[in-house]
Amino acid sequence: MKILVTGAAGFIGSNFVYYLLENHQNDEIIGLDVLTYAGNLENLKNALNHKNFTFVKGDICDKEFIEDIFKKYDFDYVVNFAAESHVDRSTKDPGIFLKTNIIGTQILMDECLKYPKIRFHQVSTDEVYGDLPLDRPDLLFSEDTPLHASSPYSASKAAADLMVLAYHRTFKLNATISRCSNNYGPYQFPEKLIPLMINNALSNKKLPVYGKGINVRDWLHVYDHCSAIDLIMRNSVSGSVYNVGGNNERKNIEVVLTILKQLNKSEDLITYVTDRKGHDLRYGINADKIKNELGWSAKYNFENGIKETINWYLENKEWLENTTSGEYINYYNKMYNNR
Ligand code: NAD
Ligand code: DAU
Repeated sequence: MKILVTGAAGFIGSNFVYYLLENHQNDEIIGLDVLTYAGNLENLKNALNHKNFTFVKGDICDKEFIEDIFKKYDFDYVVNFAAESHVDRSTKDPGIFLKTNIIGTQILMDECLKYPKIRFHQVSTDEVYGDLPLDRPDLLFSEDTPLHASSPYSASKAAADLMVLAYHRTFKLNATISRCSNNYGPYQFPEKLIPLMINNALSNKKLPVYGKGINVRDWLHVYDHCSAIDLIMRNSVSGSVYNVGGNNERKNIEVVLTILKQLNKSEDLITYVTDRKGHDLRYGINADKIKNELGWSAKYNFENGIKETINWYLENKEWLENTTSGEYINYYNKMYNNR
C-alpha cells in the first residue's frame, strides 16, 4: 500500500510514520510537511533513511503542489494530520487555522476525488464536541454528540469534519474520520501541557497552570491513537466516524503533580496564571464504537504511559533543547510573561 501522511514531521504524524514502518513492512510511506514551527525533521530522523519512507516538503494549501504529488505517487491512503493544532495560538491568530485546517483539507479532498480508490482519513479531535460540565462525570462524548466547538482551533476542525461528511455524501468521497482525546508521548512540541511542564520543571522554571488547574482532559498515549487510526482507515466503511480515547481523565493539576513527583521537583514551582480564554472544562470520550466494531483497545494506561513519556524527554534532552531555543523563546514570552 502507498500511504500519504500529511503533517508527518509533527507530533502525531511522526509517531504514525514509525507505527506504519514497524507494523506494515510492505507499505510505502510518503511523509509530507511544510515544516511550520511545529514541524521538525528531527522527529523523523529514524525514518529518513528507511527504504520505505520518503519525505516531501510542501503545503497542503498549495493546490498545484498537491496535484503534482498525487500524480507522481499512486496513493491508496491519504491520512491528514497536517494542521495548526494549538488552542492558545488560535486565540491570537485564527486566520491561519481556517486556512490550513479547512482549506487545506478541502484541497486534499478535491484531489482524492480524482482517484476513487484512495481512502481519505481525516484526523480530527474530541474538541469538535465542545466541553462537558465538571460535575457530571457520567456524561461522555459519543459520535452522535452535536458539534459545538469553543475555540477558533476546534471550530476549524469541526468545519473540516463537516466538509469531509459533505464530500462523502455529495461526491461519494471515500473517507473516514477519527476524533481523539488529548495525546501525550514522544516528540510533542513543548507548547502543549505535558512537554511544556516537563521542560519547565527540568529548568527549574515556574509551571504555569491556567485558572485553578481543575479542567479535565482524557489522556491517550500517541501509540494508541496511531493504532486506532490504522484500524479505522483500513477496516471501516466509508463515511464512518469513530471516537478514540483511553478513559484516563485527569485534572490538569493532577498531571502537573505527577510530572513534578517523577522528576523529584518541588511543588513550589507551580504558579496559577490567568485562565485560557473560553477554556473548555472537561473532555470525556466514549470509545465503545471502535472497541466493539473494530476490536481496538489501548495498550497504555496513564500511569505507565506518563512514566515512559517523562523518561523519553529525559533521554532526549538535546531534542528538547533544540525545540525550545530560537523562536520558542519569543512565543513563550508573548504567551506567559505578565500573565
Ligand atoms: P502538530 O502541531 O505537532 O503537527 C502538525 C504538523 O502539521 C506540523 O508538522 C506542521 O508543520 C504541519 N503542517 C501545518 N500546516 C501545514 C500545511 N499547510 N501543509 C503541510 N503541513 C502542515 O500537531 P499534532 O499534535 O501532531 O496533531 C496532528 C493532528 O491531530 C491535527 O490535525 C490535530 O488536530 C489532531 N489531533 C491532535 C491531538 C493532540 O492531542 N495533539 C488530539 C486529537 C487530534
Ligand atoms: O483534545 C484533543 C486536543 O488536545 C487536540 O485537538 C489539540 O490539538 C491539542 O493541543 C489538545 O488541546 P488542549 O487545549 O486540551 O491541550 P493543551 O496541552 O494545550 O492543554 C491541556 C490543558 O492544560 C488545558 O486545559 C489547558 C491547560 N494548560 C495548558 C498549557 C499549555 C495549562 O494549564 N498551562 C499551560 O501552559
